[in-house]
Amino acid sequence: MPRFEEIFQAGKIPLYLAPMSGFTDIAFRELCKEHGADVLVSEFVQSEPLIRDRERTWRDVDFTPEQRPMGIQIFGANPDSMARAAALLETRLKPDFIDINFGCPARKVVEQNAGSGLLRDLPLMEKIARAVVDAVPATCVTAKMRLGWDSHSLVHIDAAKCLEDAGIRVLAVHGRTKSQGYSGEADWEKIGEVVRAVQIPVVGNGDIRDAETAVRRVRETGVAGLMVGRGALGKPWLFAQIKNALRGKDAEPGAGTPTTEAVFSTLLRYAETLAKTRGDTGTENIRWLLARLHPFTYGVPGGKRIRAELSSCTTLADLHALLYA
Ligand SMILES: Cc1cc2nc3c(=O)[nH]c(=O)nc-3n(C[C@H](O)[C@H](O)[C@H](O)COP(=O)(O)O)c2cc1C
Repeated sequence: MPRFEEIFQAGKIPLYLAPMSGFTDIAFRELCKEHGADVLVSEFVQSEPLIRDRERTWRDVDFTPEQRPMGIQIFGANPDSMARAAALLETRLKPDFIDINFGCPARKVVEQNAGSGLLRDLPLMEKIARAVVDAVPATCVTAKMRLGWDSHSLVHIDAAKCLEDAGIRVLAVHGRTKSQGYSGEADWEKIGEVVRAVQIPVVGNGDIRDAETAVRRVRETGVAGLMVGRGALGKPWLFAQIKNALRGKDAEPGAGTPTTEAVFSTLLRYAETLAKTRGDTGTENIRWLLARLHPFTYGVPGGKRIRAELSSCTTLADLHALLYA
């Protein structure tokens, strides 16, 4: 198997689907892969439940061979637990890379001093990274971080250097601080500063919602890869649009936008795969998955009506009837 980092060959800008807990499960990842995402990452999982062999957590990190190159993202504050979880992942699933989360701003995560909580404690962050790197000699270890805890404590350069020293081989940087959460704008100038501060490939992340922005961000910062999160929800074809624009094709705004018919058939196929991967028959009650379909209805004719009526669908047949009414 080629080493994961070989994906960052000169001239190629790999596109990642950002891990998004509650959204980027196996079904959505499959859809994004079909539409041009190069690298997929699992939703984040805590190290301890993996060690305790909690079945549901192992199910959350499952992936298919077609989804490679695939990374599994872990979080935690204890170097020993993180190392043990990584070793188990390497043995059981052999992911292409293991990613460490140093960016999650959720209260229940930072209260344990994990996720972006570690941006306040770089020595512990480095210890965790080193422990994971040492525990999985056959696997590339990567990390994803934010710029700092808040605008008064930016640590992006020091944190990136620490992580590089610890053996992290690829670094994704979300250009926000913990205190920004998901609001405000991602600061791509600071992402560029990280690119210039380290030798390892840096993947830029934050607010990539169209192909033109993606091309501009690569030119401005020299990032080795791009990571797309919310912009891909309901719009997996964004990956193909970005790829074309990076190759200098179809760079006009909106190029590569699918027809309404193509959006509906993608939505239906996604609903079917979701139902199947959750062990549902696919035709029984599908209420639980309706919220996941909303993002597909923006920008299509009749989208407002479809959103309003989605909640009355209970089967895939209802959904089909609603779309093609
Ligand atoms: C609902 C949601 C869940 C997320 N879950 C994770 C996660 O599990 N791991 C992670 O590293 N980042 C997570 N993120 C952050 C995204 O990966 C990404 O860094 C962020 O959304 C900024 O990128 P964007 O502007 O392209 O959305 C999540 C974001 C959202 C909106």
